[in-house]
Amino acid sequence: MARLKLSHQAWSTQTAFILAAIGSAVGLGNLWKFPYITGENGGGAFVLVYLGCIVLIGLPILIAELTLGRSGQASPPQAMAILAQEAKASKSWVFLGVNGVLGGLFILSFYTVIAGWGLSYFFDSLSGQFIAMDADAAGVNFDALVSSSGQLIFWHSVVMIITVWIVSKGVKSGLEKAINLMMPGLFIILAILLGYATTTGAFSESFHFLFDPDFSKLTWNSVLIALGHAFFTLSLGFGTMMVYGSYIPAQYSIVRAALWIVVADTVIALVAGLVIFSIVFGNNLAAGSGPGLLFQTLPIAFGQMSGGWIFGTLFFGMVVLAALSSSISMIEPGISWLEQNWGYSRQKAAWSLGLATWALGLGTVWSFNWLSDMHWIGQRNFFESLDFLTANVMLPLGGLFTALFVGWVWSQTRRNQEIELSNPMQKIFSITIRWVAPILVALVFVANLIQS
Ligand code: PHE
Ligand code: NA
Repeated sequence: MARLKLSHQAWSTQTAFILAAIGSAVGLGNLWKFPYITGENGGGAFVLVYLGCIVLIGLPILIAELTLGRSGQASPPQAMAILAQEAKASKSWVFLGVNGVLGGLFILSFYTVIAGWGLSYFFDSLSGQFIAMDADAAGVNFDALVSSSGQLIFWHSVVMIITVWIVSKGVKSGLEKAINLMMPGLFIILAILLGYATTTGAFSESFHFLFDPDFSKLTWNSVLIALGHAFFTLSLGFGTMMVYGSYIPAQYSIVRAALWIVVADTVIALVAGLVIFSIVFGNNLAAGSGPGLLFQTLPIAFGQMSGGWIFGTLFFGMVVLAALSSSISMIEPGISWLEQNWGYSRQKAAWSLGLATWALGLGTVWSFNWLSDMHWIGQRNFFESLDFLTANVMLPLGGLFTALFVGWVWSQTRRNQEIELSNPMQKIFSITIRWVAPILVALVFVANLIQS
């Protein structure tokens, strides 16, 4: 099979690409999930394990995924077909691309629901609803939102429509344009909030909570959560970075881009953690309250503090920007596949995938109200099952097989040409992608199976 000739889209500049990839990486993972799982898993030690996973596993797999995308120059399933054939390897590697397409849509289906909470809270805060709110009122407010499937469906639909509308416009006039508007806003808001956090009086407590490791609080399950989150937060294992990679022209440096993405994503998660825990501790609230941390705990703080109206509105505005710049990247692998493999127009691909994903999202909506007692995987409701299945199973497996493909199956010459590392770095990369990353992922996986 000759290289497919595709009427191919591409990023207009290297900066545009890096910004879009950072936009994908920085999302609810950083602002909502990282703080609450850190709170639930005891702080410092968990953060340390997470950082270890980012450097030893996340970075090399990110480089690998971007490289596969660029070499394949096609949607993830097609790229894997082309590369497997090139390596004279089994056709079944295509499943890695399919895992990405499906996984991205699975995540998107609940991501837009949670982003919808953010959007709803943005308007709540803007209209002054949080002013003088106490803990009980905040709980009531959150319960009122999640128990109303009507409201949840409304916000879920709004976020989904915006997402689909952006991607339907294509790489340059959709993704890039949206990213160029959203990312500066996000950075500025976070900087303002960080400035504020240093004045709360709880900044150092928050710093100690995040950075003083207490290993007695760590379990194998926390380690699996940290690992899964390293994949989730860098948008790995789901074809997102592969499809973004497929739009990179040959002359861009992948390693440079990968370093930017990792640094930006990590710094933003840590800063967001500092901001959030400063506000939480500054108002004598608890860190371990789970997924409600952002939506139940923070509003109390915004209600009590001076300037809470402004900071609350800015905060939830930032959550929405971060979520949208990620949601567009979850649907893109599927769109590129429908476009390039099945001849769909971009419009048709975007709206049909959006509709299907929206419908799947209803399962998440109802898992917060009338189906909350329905268990799918173990004791988990629909939302928790989907989160578990994607973040703790599909993502690590996708990442593991990406590492195995690049480390063992793909031609090393081709790999080195694409990645362009200097000699010692090439060795280090090779050892990490062949041994370190796969063994660590497998280990955490097996440890959990044995334990559970
Ligand atoms: N990285 C995103 C976040 O942190 C989530 C994401 C996962 C995006 C997988 C794309 C693919 O919120
Ligand atoms: Na992230």
